[in-house]
Amino acid sequence: MADLDDIRDGDNFGLNTPADTSKFYLKGMNDASWGIKNRMSRIFNQKSGRTVMLAFDHGFLMGPTSGLERIDLNIAPLADEADCLMGCRGMIRTSIPATNTKPICLRTDTGTTILTEMNHNTLISEIDALGINATAMAAMLAIGDAETEALTIANFSKLVDIGNKYSIPVMGVTAVGKDMARDARYFGMASRVCAENGASIVKTYYTEGFEKVVAGCPVPVVIAGGKKLPELEALELCYKAIQCGALGVDMGRNVFQSEAPLAMMKAVKALIHDDLKPTEAIELFNDLKNA
Ligand code: R5P
Repeated sequence: MADLDDIRDGDNFGLNTPADTSKFYLKGMNDASWGIKNRMSRIFNQKSGRTVMLAFDHGFLMGPTSGLERIDLNIAPLADEADCLMGCRGMIRTSIPATNTKPICLRTDTGTTILTEMNHNTLISEIDALGINATAMAAMLAIGDAETEALTIANFSKLVDIGNKYSIPVMGVTAVGKDMARDARYFGMASRVCAENGASIVKTYYTEGFEKVVAGCPVPVVIAGGKKLPELEALELCYKAIQCGALGVDMGRNVFQSEAPLAMMKAVKALIHDDLKPTEAIELFNDLKNA
C-alpha cells in the first residue's frame, strides 16, 4: 500500500532540458517498435515534428452537435488539410470516403452519453481498428471520479496491450472528475497516468502552467481545443500550448463550428507547422474567409 500521507507535488521538471530524441524525432519514442514509429511518422509531420489532428468523435456523446450534423459535408472536405482524422468507426465508415489516405485515429472506447453519467465506457473490438486501417487508437482515461476511474484506466491499459500487439500507437484522451479543478495539477496527473499506462500520444487541455504538464509526460502531448472560442483566441490557445512544448492539436469545435472551417483549418495548420504567430494566423484566416 502506498504511503498516502506524504504526497508532494513535483516541481523539478527539467524545463530547460529537452527529452532525448536522438534515435527518433518524437519524444519518448527512441525505443518504440518499428511499426509504432512508422505510424507516428504518418501522424506527426517529420519536418515540424507536430500534428494537426481533426477531431469529430463528439457525436457518440452528444449526437449531431453543431458543425457535425453531416460528417460527409462538414468534415470530409477538411480532410486534405488535416494530418490525421480522429473519429468513431460508424462515422468513418459511412461518411469519410474509403479513398481517404490521411491517417485515422480511431476512437476505440464508447459508452454513456451526455444524457446520463459520462465515461462509463467499454472498448470496441480491435478487429474494427484493423479493418478500418487505423494508424492510431484513442480511448478516454478519466481520473478523479470514483465511478469511472478504474474502468477507464483498465480500458486504456487493455487498449495499450492490443496496440503493442499490432504496433498501433494509442492516444490517451484525458478527463478529470467533474468536481476537480481543470488545472495543470490534474491534467498533468491525468496525462502522466496515460503515459505510465503506455500511451504513445496524450491529448489534454491547455491550462496555466502547461509547460509542467508537457514536461511531466514523456510522450507527445496534443491539446483539444475545447468549447468554441473566437478564432483569434483559439489560435492564441494553440500558440501558447506549442510554446509550452505541445506537439500539436487534436481540435474539433474550434474548427468545425468556425464561421469558415476550411480557413480555420488552414490557419491552425500554418500556426502549428510554419510557426505563424496568432496575429499572422488570424490574418491568414480572414484573408481565406473573405477570398
Ligand atoms: C473528447 O472526448 C473528444 O475526444 C474531443 O475529440 C476532444 O474534446 C477534441 O475536441 P474539441 O477540440 O472540440 O474539444
